[in-house]
Amino acid sequence: MTETTAKAVPVLPDAQTVTEVKHYTDSLFSFRTTRPASLRFRSGEFVMIGLMGDPDPKTGKQRPLLRAYSIASPSWDEEMEFYSIKVANGPLTSKLQHIKVGDQVILKPKPVGTLVHDAVLPGKRMYFFATGTGFAPFASLLREPQTYEDYDEIIMTHTCREVAELTYGRDLIEGLKSDELLNEVIGEGFWKKIKYYPTTTREESPKMGRITTLIENGELFADLGVPALDPATDRAMVCGSLAFNLDIKALLEKAGLNEGANSEPGEFVIEKAFVG
Ligand code: A2P
Repeated sequence: MTETTAKAVPVLPDAQTVTEVKHYTDSLFSFRTTRPASLRFRSGEFVMIGLMGDPDPKTGKQRPLLRAYSIASPSWDEEMEFYSIKVANGPLTSKLQHIKVGDQVILKPKPVGTLVHDAVLPGKRMYFFATGTGFAPFASLLREPQTYEDYDEIIMTHTCREVAELTYGRDLIEGLKSDELLNEVIGEGFWKKIKYYPTTTREESPKMGRITTLIENGELFADLGVPALDPATDRAMVCGSLAFNLDIKALLEKAGLNEGANSEPGEFVIEKAFVG
C-alpha cells in the first residue's frame, strides 16, 4: 500500500468544523459546528469561541481572537449552535460573519454561566426574557427536556427593533412542534406549555413596545391571561443588553423575586448578551 502524502492542513488550537451557516438579516446569523468529544455543558451556558487574529505587524505572530458566546444548542445535541450579531468593524464578528461550511472556528471547551436550571428554584411558571441576540441561551433551554419537567408553563418574550430580527427565535419555536426527542421524552404536545410573546420597538408588528413597558403597564399579563409576577409561583431568566438586564432586574425585585446564582439558587437569574 502506498502512503499518501497529504498536505498538512494547519489546525487551529481547539478547532471545530463549521457544519451550517444561516443568515437572517444584514446584522444577524447563526452557525453550527462539530462538538468536542469531551465537552459537557448545561443548557444555557456559554463558551469562548473565535478565530485566529491577523498577524502582528511586528512579530508576525497570530493570536486567537475570542469572545463569549452563549451555546444556542441544547446539552444533548451532537453539534454546537451559536447565534451572532455582525458588527462591520467588530474585531471578531467582521470576520466570523464570512465563515462557510467546512471552515474551522476555535471553541474553548470550558462552559460557564448562570442561565442554568441549577441556579433557579422550582416554580410553576418560567419567564424567559430576551432582547436581540439574547435569545441564544433560550434556544438551548427551550430544547432542554428539564425546562418542561421543572415548569408547568414557559413564557418566552423576545423584543427586537425590527420584525426580521425575530426570525431566528420564531423559527426555533415553530421547530419545537416537530422535535422528535422532546415529543418522545416530554410527551406529545409539550410545546403547548410555551407562550411565545415577540415584540418590536421600531417597526410595526402585531405587538409593539419594550417588554419592560409591557410589564409595568400590565399588558403582558393581560395579553397572556396570567396573573402579575408573584415570587410564590414565578421564576425568570434574563438575557439582553446591560441596560435591559438592569431594568428587568429592578422590575423583578419590585415584584419580590430574588436573584439566584449557581451557589445559591433564587427566583431569577441574569446574563448579559455577548456582543462581538
Ligand atoms: P428600543 O428600540 O426602544 O431601544 P438593542 O439592539 O439596542 O440591544 O435593543 C434590542 C431591543 O431591546 C430593542 O427593541 C430595544 O428597544 C430593547 N431595549 C433596549 N434597551 C432596553 C431597556 N433598557 N429596557 C427594555 N428594552 C430595551
